[in-house]
Amino acid sequence: MAIPAHYIQELLQRNSVVDVIGGHVHLKRHGRIYKGLCPFHSEKTPSFTVYPETQSYYCFGCGAGGDIISFAKEINGLTYVEAVKMLAQQSGMPLPDEDDKLSKLKSRIYEMNKIAARYFHANLNSEKGKNARIYLRQRQLSDKTIVNFGLGYASDGWQDLCNYLKRKGFSEEEMVSAYLAARSSKGNIYDIFRDRIIFPIIDLRGNVIAFGGRRMGDEGGPKYLNSGDTPVFKKSNGLFALNLAKKSGKETFILAEGYMDVISLHQAGFNNAIATLGTALTGQQAKLIADYAKNVVIAYDSDEAGQKATRRAMDIFSKEDVTVQVLQMEGAKDPDEYIKKFGRDRFEALIENANSALDFELLKLRKQHDIKDTQGRIDYLTKACDVLAAIPSPVLQDVYCSRLAGETGADKASIKLQLEQSKNKLYRSNNYKKGKEMLKEGVAGGIKVDYRQQGNTLPKVFAQQQIISALIRDNDFFPVVDSQLTEDDFTDTDMKKAFIEYKRLKAEGQNVSYALLCHYLDEGARKNLAKINATNAEIIMTSNDLQMHINNLRTAPMGQNEIKQTSVEDLAKRIESLKEKKK
Ligand code: GTP
Ligand code: MN
Repeated sequence: MAIPAHYIQELLQRNSVVDVIGGHVHLKRHGRIYKGLCPFHSEKTPSFTVYPETQSYYCFGCGAGGDIISFAKEINGLTYVEAVKMLAQQSGMPLPDEDDKLSKLKSRIYEMNKIAARYFHANLNSEKGKNARIYLRQRQLSDKTIVNFGLGYASDGWQDLCNYLKRKGFSEEEMVSAYLAARSSKGNIYDIFRDRIIFPIIDLRGNVIAFGGRRMGDEGGPKYLNSGDTPVFKKSNGLFALNLAKKSGKETFILAEGYMDVISLHQAGFNNAIATLGTALTGQQAKLIADYAKNVVIAYDSDEAGQKATRRAMDIFSKEDVTVQVLQMEGAKDPDEYIKKFGRDRFEALIENANSALDFELLKLRKQHDIKDTQGRIDYLTKACDVLAAIPSPVLQDVYCSRLAGETGADKASIKLQLEQSKNKLYRSNNYKKGKEMLKEGVAGGIKVDYRQQGNTLPKVFAQQQIISALIRDNDFFPVVDSQLTEDDFTDTDMKKAFIEYKRLKAEGQNVSYALLCHYLDEGARKNLAKINATNAEIIMTSNDLQMHINNLRTAPMGQNEIKQTSVEDLAKRIESLKEKKK
């Protein structure tokens, strides 16, 4: 299938390389690049590197490299077109050849969801909804809250909603694709949500995109049923009440675990509360939150699972531009229960005093050690100092040293000495890591020096690689290159092909990124370029540098290896063009 360039462009725009790869590899940020353990070979120290600037990845260990499409392809064992489709789906893009059909279905689902939400809401005030009303009262929800969240009730018949939607003109297929109905083995359709309280999930544009349904008693299947993924909804992207929190205009959001927590919080005036939809926080959700909030208070359940989830969420948020605080609740299992037991003011006080991520870390250590025991106290202080060593502010370090002294009864001066040791240790280990990285990236280190050498000593292929790399990183270089070089100047097969495709795409008016270019290159060229991107990541290319490479390419003699690898025709052409230039 020929996928048009503009489609690939949009796909690349919607899927950042860090997100796509971050879904499979735990990436850690190092300045402008990210590193992780390579998913394509087994290793203990990370040599797999991701470059947001060129949207590429490269493994210094095994040489795997490419763009998001090749990553999706290789990690999932897909064909190229399948990988494109998968990324498209994940980012809510219509599939390349299904534009029309899919966008029609999407608008039908939005329409159907809206009608279903109104239907569920109306049920609540009907005869059928009596128990549901009682249930919501027991949970102390006001009418205003019920209306604010558009809560509803799905009656207990097997086809109540299906029949209603049928009368409104929707087909069975449409209901199934909206996840409102399912098909039995006999082929009949039935309502998915039956005898449940309904929580509509609403996106930022006000569309009803999905539903959550809670059973009211102890029986009747799982406590919550949530819509599965549909053409308009991806569970891992969705957030409950983000539409409301956004409207609150507050810079801080409260992230809770459950629907009921969020609803309770809003009812108590915390209209900046949101929750994921029964799944652990994903990178995409964290990004979305960071788009609207500067600060996030994690208010997960106080049980062990909730605390584990808190640590994971902190990790995920650490890649985003938000500060994170952690709420420590005692005496209640979740915010809903806390507010009911102790009142909104005390919850507010909890929020005001929410721990920083650092406090959370220290508190966790504190819980792991018995400080009444000498050894326990020493271990606790040593580990706490290791944590403190990593924070950049000496003032803050001092505050915490005092606090640790008060807490353990140890002398503050000796805690500070310990802290110095931890700092040295950290410094050494950082330096060691850096040194190792540099060794591993020896190529890159070498190039950094060679690169600025003048003269004709550089191999021709190197000049070509640098030129293509410059073009990829900055499209503004194109006129400079285009006015001086033709494809015949490129003797390296991969670089030649890259130049030809680059030029063609420019003629089409495209902004040519590495990833777009990849779309038109074979695997060898793609990997080769990924490596060049990787080794050049730290190098700034000026127009003087570019000119130097162009000069080198035009005047430098070919190396023996290059001559061997160049076809006779190309050699002949080259000799011709050199003659031309001499004239
Ligand atoms: P209440 O128990 O009514 O107070 O609800 P809650 O919102 O506090 O739920 P809880 O803390 O038990 O779970 C947190 C979230 O996980 C819920 O809001 C749901 O999104 C999800 N969840 C809970 N139980 C289930 C389940 O049985 N199935 C699924 N799919 N999700 C669930
Ligand atoms: Mn609860």
